[in-house]
Amino acid sequence: MIDWLLSTVPMVKLAHIAGLTLWCGGLLVLPVMLARHDPAVVADDYRLIRRATHLTYTTVVTPAAVLTVIAGTWLIFMREVFVPWLYAKLAFVALLVAAHAWIGHIVVKVAEEPGEHRPPHPVLPVLAVLSPCLVILTLVLAKPTLGWIAFPEWLTEPRGVQLPLDVPSR
Ligand code: HEM
Repeated sequence: MIDWLLSTVPMVKLAHIAGLTLWCGGLLVLPVMLARHDPAVVADDYRLIRRATHLTYTTVVTPAAVLTVIAGTWLIFMREVFVPWLYAKLAFVALLVAAHAWIGHIVVKVAEEPGEHRPPHPVLPVLAVLSPCLVILTLVLAKPTLGWIAFPEWLTEPRGVQLPLDVPSR
């Protein structure tokens, strides 16, 4: 790989780690902020909670998630890590993304149905975020070989077949 591109790996990794710190930290703090919402709170308190959770989700947590995924995707190709622990990690990243979407849904519900919606107990979303985070960190820091996982041949060998559609010649 081009030398100057390789020399940017530490910077990309820094962006990845800065992004995931904000992403995961934000996802852990949002349920706790949302738990302060109660249909019975006075209008000023409600406005404060709604504004703080909305701004945190849209201006910090979601952009940090995008930064983490973009930097992580670059790292796959720069570090050439096409290995089982990475695929396992990506499966748990998918769970983290699902938790991200769920928390976003709660933020929206609290905003749209102030008098009716009661957010879930914070322990549930916190667990939904913390569990994949801990597994991801274990996988990425221990980098286990996971040699006991037997991938089917169709996943590891080029198939040598044509696309089932016409490809333009240029
Ligand atoms: C789509 C999302 C993600 C992708 C594609 C991705 C991919 C990668 C890649 C390729 C590396 C470099 C590994 C190496 O240098 O050996 C890396 C490093 C790292 N990732 Fe991710 N990652 C993603 C999300 C996450 C998340 C959500 C976390 C934490 C919860 C995380 C934690 C880390 C850590 C701590 C490192 C540094 C590990 C080291 O340098 O030994 N990543 N990531």
